[in-house]
Amino acid sequence: MLFLIFLILAIIIFNLLFKETRWDWNKINLDSITFPKSFIWGTATASHQVEGNCKNNWSEFEKGFKNNGKPNIKDAQISGLACDHWQRYKSDIELIKSIGVKHYRFSLEWSKIEPELGVFNDEALNHYSDVIDELLKNNIEPVITLHHFSHPIWFDKLGAFEKEKNISHLVSFCDKVFSHYSNRVKYWCTINEPGVVAIQGYFTGMFPPGETNGQKAGEVYKNLLESHVQIYKSLKKLPNGNSVKIGIVKNINQFDPWNRYNIFDWLFTFAMNHVFNWAPINFFKTGKLKFRVPGLIWNSHINKDAVKSLDFFGLNYYSHNHIRFNPFSKDYSDLMYKKNDIMTDMPYTIYAEGIYRAIKLVSKLNLPIIITENGVADKEDSIRSEYIKKYLFAVSKSIKDGYNVVGYYYWSLMDNFEWAFGYDMRFGLFEVDFKNQKRTLKKGAKAYINIIKTQSNE
Ligand code: GAL
Repeated sequence: MLFLIFLILAIIIFNLLFKETRWDWNKINLDSITFPKSFIWGTATASHQVEGNCKNNWSEFEKGFKNNGKPNIKDAQISGLACDHWQRYKSDIELIKSIGVKHYRFSLEWSKIEPELGVFNDEALNHYSDVIDELLKNNIEPVITLHHFSHPIWFDKLGAFEKEKNISHLVSFCDKVFSHYSNRVKYWCTINEPGVVAIQGYFTGMFPPGETNGQKAGEVYKNLLESHVQIYKSLKKLPNGNSVKIGIVKNINQFDPWNRYNIFDWLFTFAMNHVFNWAPINFFKTGKLKFRVPGLIWNSHINKDAVKSLDFFGLNYYSHNHIRFNPFSKDYSDLMYKKNDIMTDMPYTIYAEGIYRAIKLVSKLNLPIIITENGVADKEDSIRSEYIKKYLFAVSKSIKDGYNVVGYYYWSLMDNFEWAFGYDMRFGLFEVDFKNQKRTLKKGAKAYINIIKTQSNE
């Protein structure tokens, strides 16, 4: 009896404390969104998704198959030439300029710069130097990501992030590129989405190396977060270290219980939030990392240097899931969608309230927040405009409510290789015809261009 009362009380408290915010969009005027004039507008890409001709852990994975005989990438697609951004960066920078953004976030392809351990390729180093100069010439601030999912095959062979001692290889690479570009590049992102690399790579097996091992996933997750701290410390000691801004890029996934009266749905929702969202934020707040979902994924780690290791927080936001407890599924839960959810082409819903909640959550760190990615896969280009307006409304509301969001980068500049989904997912502001590399501005992108135009200084 006492237990039952306890359960009922717990459910009432959870319902009160953890609300699933829903706004009445009929009462919101999406045409009067306002931003401070200093707000930074940008767009983003990642090397493996756009450059072409990458030979790295992903290009290897693209050739492979899962145990069930299915290809690792949808329909066995390969990244190949991608958007040929490597050759076409000058005309692509013209496109970036044409939409009015002032920041371009892109990643350095480690496998091109350091194809063998300790051997650096001058052509690749010069290439990125030229990209930076071209951006600056066009008044666009380069924002570099140091690790965006892809890395050299030699690093993989050494065990990549499964081994803490391998972090030093990434730190040396970062030191090297920093010494080349930090005189011109003010914004640096260390690791893109550590939780995704660890969980998709080692738990669900959707990303390389395609493993399904909770213990390894926990170790990799910890090592990626630790990598950030070590990179930050190392770069800060180098010339220009103190004048640049260095942050991590972390996605926040919004989880809510499928049935708000089912204690198991609540418990699994907490478990997901704890691993994906709360534990890494707590690491940066306290220096203590601890996540524990028994039998699934667990680890703990202490590094007090984590506490002051961020000049800004790079927030990626895409998805909202309802969690249903399922004792028969491998991870005891299913990701669910509600009848009224507006779906995008990815298994993500349109839930702009979620970006507001994510901003509120990461604000606990008291840091400037840059939305380093947010965007929609929409092949028909039928919901992009609504998506952009709703999410930017949520961002503008968060600023009015006192949260320190300083910039927003739309993902992505152009359609590109969307990892395990291949080329089917169309996130771009520009459509890419992969037969002839022609870029065409999408109608839906105009919502973004208009907001930038009306809200910028110039
Ligand atoms: C993020 C990732 C990007 C892009 C995006 C769209 O997780 O950082 O590279 O693929 O998702 O799904």
